[in-house]
Amino acid sequence: MITESTLLDSPNGRASGEPVQSAITYEKIPTHIYADAKAASRAVAQEIADLIRQKQGEGKPCILGLATGSSPKTVYAELVRMHREEGLSFRNVVSYNLDEYYPMEPDSLQSYWRFMKEQLFDHVDIPAGNYHIPDGTVRPEKVAEFCKQYEADIEAAGGLDFQLLGIGGNGHIGFNEPGSLSNSHTRLMMLDNSTRAAASGDFGGLAKTPRKAITMGVASILSARRIVLLAWGERKAPVIRGAVEGTVTEQNPASYLQTHPNVLFVIDEAAASELTRMKTPWLVDSVVWDNKMIKKAVTHLSLTLGKPVLKLTDRDYNDNGMSDLLAQYGQSYDINIDIFNQLQHTITGWPGGKPNADDTNRPERALPAQKRCLIFSPHPDDDIISMGGTFQRLVDQGHEVHVGYQTSGNIAVADDEALRFADYVVDFNNQFGIKSPEATRIFQDAAASLRSKKDSEMDTAEVRYVKGLIRRGEAKSTCRFVGIPVENAHFLNMPFYETGTVAKKPLGEEDVKIVMDLIEQIKPHQIYAAGDLADPHGTHKVCLDAVMEAVRRLKQSNATPENFMKDCWVWLYRGAWAEWDIHEIEMAVPMSPDQVMRKRLGIFKHQSQKDGVVYQGTDSREFWQRAEERNRTTAGLYNHLGLAEYEAIEAFVRWKF
Ligand code: F6R
Repeated sequence: MITESTLLDSPNGRASGEPVQSAITYEKIPTHIYADAKAASRAVAQEIADLIRQKQGEGKPCILGLATGSSPKTVYAELVRMHREEGLSFRNVVSYNLDEYYPMEPDSLQSYWRFMKEQLFDHVDIPAGNYHIPDGTVRPEKVAEFCKQYEADIEAAGGLDFQLLGIGGNGHIGFNEPGSLSNSHTRLMMLDNSTRAAASGDFGGLAKTPRKAITMGVASILSARRIVLLAWGERKAPVIRGAVEGTVTEQNPASYLQTHPNVLFVIDEAAASELTRMKTPWLVDSVVWDNKMIKKAVTHLSLTLGKPVLKLTDRDYNDNGMSDLLAQYGQSYDINIDIFNQLQHTITGWPGGKPNADDTNRPERALPAQKRCLIFSPHPDDDIISMGGTFQRLVDQGHEVHVGYQTSGNIAVADDEALRFADYVVDFNNQFGIKSPEATRIFQDAAASLRSKKDSEMDTAEVRYVKGLIRRGEAKSTCRFVGIPVENAHFLNMPFYETGTVAKKPLGEEDVKIVMDLIEQIKPHQIYAAGDLADPHGTHKVCLDAVMEAVRRLKQSNATPENFMKDCWVWLYRGAWAEWDIHEIEMAVPMSPDQVMRKRLGIFKHQSQKDGVVYQGTDSREFWQRAEERNRTTAGLYNHLGLAEYEAIEAFVRWKF
């Protein structure tokens, strides 16, 4: 079992103590996989601290190359902790950051200057003149000279002892976008469209996102004596696989790191999920053939060979590294039928359980026939986007359905949309002479602030209020559409979210308490929660942590026979970004073409999230398109495995505490 602090392998990608050959042939960069980002960050921070202390011992400066972005935040937090609690001093540290947007004022909300001060420099004893960040205010005609000097300064300081890196979804390191040459140096770079899309959330939309950045080059990075690259979350998994196992190519600049003699990738399990040793471990080493591994291997074999499960032969198993499994069962037919039945049993049109039916092989219990169901929706639209078909079925099949909207979702509303609503209320009040001084103030202040707001400014409390109200109205509209009373929509406004910026506070006691209170109030038989871990720093993960913590506490606190929690099952759905792997799915709820269409109309209720939303991410499609594609893909996979052909399927995994 993986524990939080478990390192899943040794430096060369070998399972510890095992005589593994094949992992080495697949992986061309030493890669450490940790159970989560926190454990991984501790190890990286420790390495940096050791280096700083070693240099202190030698009476020398420690020259660090530093990165920004979400990945290194946990490393910086750990370094700050070490400074506070263990006396780690940064007095001998000299640092050079990789990059900065261009143009960019240092005090702007999105500047990397500000980021580094907030995350690290303001909390440790590094002398003010010792840190360097490319200057986003240099005049255009001076940029080339500035870049040359930046390189010269690093060299004069003795070169980088250690370079910390993140990796872009397109493989960029620093802002060396695909196409960057291995001999590139510090320069002004045009940002890739996918990089701008990923950053657009910080800038309030793509149009306001910078097009350029000053970045250290690939050669500048490779000149460091030691390099450690961080990657968290499954969104990084494909590009990590390319960099670690693929060929060196300018299309994935991180692959240049294969040529460095002292590099280490430190990644979490999710970012490692596409590596051969994680995805198809039976091709790398002998594995323990438990049911989960068998299901994973058989579905993979079936989909790879393009053959339904029931048509797989002994030869197919032998030719694809699964002969030991075959020997265990005796013949392919027995494996096939076993896995086919398991897949078949995940499919149900009765997500709340089928009344008066034998439920031995069904995902949900038949009784009680009418259940209380509580759907937790991290943002106001996740319920309908991710499980709209199931939501509708639960309602149509007579269950009492509630939705707990966990956050206000206010930062995802565009300014012009908010101004439209604020103006509407101000005009309405003026026309009818409505004199609620507080209401008038809020909406007038919001409208005034939106009219004069600069791109780099944070929303005022009034603006956030108006934006939150817009999303609340949309969620209520979806609830009416699906057919639940509006009183069953519970708006939790969890405090961790309310920072007004993309960066959120950590999960707090108050957040957990709010979730616990709602569960206790509803006493659900079923909880649905977003198990979307695509972005480990994102809102969905914090919302899931809150639900899990609340459930754990409630389970423990009332361990009496009449405790409602003992009858409460938790089902995890996935958000708009990723889907469960086919072998993980424990409940698959099919949808007909009409039901798909109805779900689409339900998603349309979220008008503020249509047409180029603030948080578009790298996927330019609208949410209904992403959801439909995902649900159709799942149905297609079931069909390829040899099961019935459905129009679309929503998928769930049961969380057993
Ligand atoms: C940041 C940088 C970038 C990021 C990369 C990943 O200084 O140079 O290469 O490391 O875009 O960003 P996150 O960590 O936010 O996913």
